[in-house]
Amino acid sequence: MTAKRQLFVTTALPYANGKFHIGHIMEYIQADIWVRFQRMQGHAVNFVGADDTHGAPIMIAAEKAGKSPEQFVADIAAGRKEYLDGFHISFDNWHSTHSPENTELARQIYRDLRDRADGSLIEVRTIEQFFDPEKNMFLPDRYIKGECPKCQAKDQYGDNCENCGAVYAPTDLINPYSALSGAKPELRNSEHFFFKLSDPRCVEFLENWTQDGKLQPDVANKIKEWFSVRTNPDGTKSEGLGDWDISRDAPYFGIEIPDAPGKYFYVWLDAPVGYLASLKNWFDKGGPKAKHGDSRSFAEYMAAPDTEQYHFIGKDIVTFHTLFWPAMLKFSGRKTPNNVFVHGFLTVNNGEKMSKSRGTGLDPLKYLSLGMNAEWLRYYLASLLSSANADIDFNATDFENIVNSHLIGKYLNIVSRTAGFITKQFDGKLASAYENELAEVQAIGMYATLMPDIRRDLERRDYAKALKAVVTLADIANKYVFDHEPWKLAKDPNSQARAHVVCSTSLVMFRLLTIALKPIIPVVAEQVEKFFGGHDLTWQDADEILITPAGEKAVNRISPKVMLPGSKITDYKHLMQRVDPKQLEALFEPPAVMESAQAAPETIANALPGGEAMAETITIDDFAKIDLRIAKIVNCESVDGSTKLLRLTLDVGEGKTRNVFSGIASMYKPEQLVGKLTVMVANLAPRKMKFGVSEGMVLAGSHQDEKANPGIYILEPFPGAQPGMRVR
Ligand code: MSP
Ligand code: ZN
Repeated sequence: MTAKRQLFVTTALPYANGKFHIGHIMEYIQADIWVRFQRMQGHAVNFVGADDTHGAPIMIAAEKAGKSPEQFVADIAAGRKEYLDGFHISFDNWHSTHSPENTELARQIYRDLRDRADGSLIEVRTIEQFFDPEKNMFLPDRYIKGECPKCQAKDQYGDNCENCGAVYAPTDLINPYSALSGAKPELRNSEHFFFKLSDPRCVEFLENWTQDGKLQPDVANKIKEWFSVRTNPDGTKSEGLGDWDISRDAPYFGIEIPDAPGKYFYVWLDAPVGYLASLKNWFDKGGPKAKHGDSRSFAEYMAAPDTEQYHFIGKDIVTFHTLFWPAMLKFSGRKTPNNVFVHGFLTVNNGEKMSKSRGTGLDPLKYLSLGMNAEWLRYYLASLLSSANADIDFNATDFENIVNSHLIGKYLNIVSRTAGFITKQFDGKLASAYENELAEVQAIGMYATLMPDIRRDLERRDYAKALKAVVTLADIANKYVFDHEPWKLAKDPNSQARAHVVCSTSLVMFRLLTIALKPIIPVVAEQVEKFFGGHDLTWQDADEILITPAGEKAVNRISPKVMLPGSKITDYKHLMQRVDPKQLEALFEPPAVMESAQAAPETIANALPGGEAMAETITIDDFAKIDLRIAKIVNCESVDGSTKLLRLTLDVGEGKTRNVFSGIASMYKPEQLVGKLTVMVANLAPRKMKFGVSEGMVLAGSHQDEKANPGIYILEPFPGAQPGMRVR
């Protein structure tokens, strides 16, 4: 075996403002497969994650939830384990960017950048920024709204217009207002700290670091554009690498900058430092020592030349990981990542890209609670993932087919057809006398050819390709068994020995496939190991069967003895259920509908009021979470390009109006609604739609089966109600 590698592996650190969604789980599964594959080869891996806790959005979300930011992120952190254990993600450590380790490391990296002997890479500059006089804070761009300077559309964000697509600075907005308080923001000066990425030292280093061939080719090509000075198609100019604004003013939930009271690191400065913080925490707890006898300190480990560092991330955060982060590490005198592995986005049933915070489509915990096997998802996602950063789609039909036909119908079929025979007729012993038959040599010969390819593809993260080869090999094993029909051979005492060899050989192939699949379906693999006597399967086991010490294929000297040391199997129990289409239906049904569907018979369903069962009982506290308000419809317009939607401008007495889209165009003409009062959900998180952002929802009655019982009716309060009154 090659010398043991020292691998430090991470996934991106999820924002601590929401639960995991299926996109996160996909990233963890991708990384976990690679990590398990490396561990199986005897390499020492430290695989760590953490919550990304800082920044304005989390601070604001905590305030809305009525919690301190510390409490808010701690509550999120408490929910992580259920997902990670449920999907068999084998992180060695999970930590937080809101930790002493991260504070210390981020500050030290900053000081090292600032105090460089060859000239500081930190510069202080005064910039003009919008300030909310009511909230007493500088406003991040996304919390400033106003009219688009180009098309005059109302209520546009500070960086771009959703109506006409224009890109601008928040200071260009007409009648800007704070989205936090509604106040008119003032321009104020503030000192900001910049990381001088435009310094020739940084540019030269980054051009080399990003273009030396380590990155995925499409990622490297994309990055190349950021270095060039040019005019973009939309008329804006790219100036090459710009300096990076790394500070934010108090109040900010983050890490205070050394020697700069009231100034905090921008969240993306301390977030990747969280990788190191989690690793340090793991070392300080003695994890590597207990796990692989590594008694070095964190500092010694990071200083060792053979430590390799890898980050798995999504394609939306490439800039941070291939420019800012390597530059921070390099110029603070630290080890830079060996590579950054970028994946695309996961969509569900061809749906939209998941929202970063909400996610859509496939709720990971619901998946588990329906009794769906985590290894189905691991196998299915692996069958879609390659080393390119292409987007992938979870398709329910595909999922069912791949799991049922490949994993169960091909791979597990090998063992379920032949194991019982060996247990019953041969007391669980595998054949030991063996004649070198052509059939066996041929079948195993394909394994000798493809197993090394599978290993290479797992290393390259081309799981889809590896699984294609696994399916080919499973087909070979099934064909071999089918061609020799051991169940017939076994009936004649003269051919029983031959039947024994056929069944034993098929189990050898099954065992080889289990080696290939172990990183993907670790729980099944563990059961297979027990079935074969408890030996922990590694790639060494495959080499022993397939490769001679001189490195040639060993197929000409195969014997069950070589192939199966130990050679006694235990009773075979079913290792996996098939996917039940009902589970998939339930997984994608909205909760309320699921209840009525479970109550099944159509007669009952028809008797349900409005076509659906009453929802679960809630407490008055649950209800109080929904802030319903009387709203005045001050304006109403049809929406170009949509026959369903109307755009409502609502006044709920906040001193500003809200933009709300509602699917009621089939029932009402805009002029019917203008000036009327209605009821809206006022504390619903704003939702970005194709036509703009919807800042709430108006209430309307409709039948569950809109096709059979069309009609949607909005509410109108009795006379006397005023905009802004709470409905309770
Ligand atoms: N907090 C930052 C990362 C800081 S790393 C120092 C962040 N968090 S995130 O929660 O928004 O995203 C975490 C990871 O999940 C990112 O790698 C992101 O690309 C990935 N994904 C988010 N949605 C995804 C899909 N729909 N599909 C696949 N991955 C997705 O960004
Ligand atoms: Zn516009």
